[in-house]
Amino acid sequence: MRFSVTSAALLALPALASAEVPEYQAQFQHYLGKMQSYIPSHSKTDPVHAAEAKLGSMKMDVLTLNNWRETLYADVKPGSTTPEEYWVFVTGGNKTCFGHCEKVEQAFNETAGAFALLPNPPHTGYLNCEQEPVLCNAWSVPTGTVWVFEMLPEPAPIDIWVKRFNLTTTTSEDIIARHAEGYKKTFQLHEGTFHPFNGWWAQNHLSLPVGYVLWFFNVVPSWLLMLTLSFVSRSMM
Ligand SMILES: *[C@@H]1O[C@H](CO)[C@@H](O)[C@H](O)[C@H]1NC(C)=O
Ligand SMILES: *[C@@H]1O[C@H](CO)[C@@H](O)[C@H](O)[C@H]1NC(C)=O
Ligand SMILES: *[C@@H]1O[C@H](CO)[C@@H](O)[C@H](O)[C@H]1NC(C)=O
Repeated sequence: MRFSVTSAALLALPALASAEVPEYQAQFQHYLGKMQSYIPSHSKTDPVHAAEAKLGSMKMDVLTLNNWRETLYADVKPGSTTPEEYWVFVTGGNKTCFGHCEKVEQAFNETAGAFALLPNPPHTGYLNCEQEPVLCNAWSVPTGTVWVFEMLPEPAPIDIWVKRFNLTTTTSEDIIARHAEGYKKTFQLHEGTFHPFNGWWAQNHLSLPVGYVLWFFNVVPSWLLMLTLSFVSRSMM
């Protein structure tokens, strides 16, 4: 227990240190002073790499078209009024992210490992649009984004906070810092019609059909569509 509290504090340090906002500096100094009495001087463990070493034991859910709903609701207790925080990283491959998502994906995976060491960790999930094109189209979700779901028991509306991370520069420290300072500072509340729970499409049970339709237009080559359209219009003349 003591270990995990100390490492949580260690994890918070670079996070606070890298935040640009000046008000954090004072807080950080104060924090650092307090922490020094707890941190054994011989300890040189790099918290992020230690966390990475623990990645194997960390629980990161892989979301699919079939399991996303039950996965997100899995740890929500009936009658609970405190949301279960769920951090989902949306990634892609050569087709859906032009091969640029790997670095930030790696950063998120390390972050998930680091979160697992916190006393009250958020849940973490992984959505790969290369493998789940229909789900990604149904949510109309861009790759390289983190979605924070605030899960409450059904049928309560679900708030989702979204942030797109820089694909080339983002490190796990950046993501951990966003968590430490409170994600609502930099994430945006999802208010679009494609919101997987509250959006118009979802409320009318149309997310899935829309996902299939959009996916269809993505996979069918445009020349085939043009050809079909010209046949259709010709036969109508
Ligand atoms: C992605 O593209 C790169 C470069 O074109 C290639 O080396 C790699 O094998 C591709 N990966 C997949 C999963 O297709
Ligand atoms: C991140 O974790 C996911 C889920 O465990 C895994 O499928 C993926 O290969 C990992 N990505 C990287 C870049 O390590
Ligand atoms: C990512 O960060 C780099 C370096 O700061 C910057 O040049 C680039 O424009 C950023 N990309 C996006 C999409 O913001």
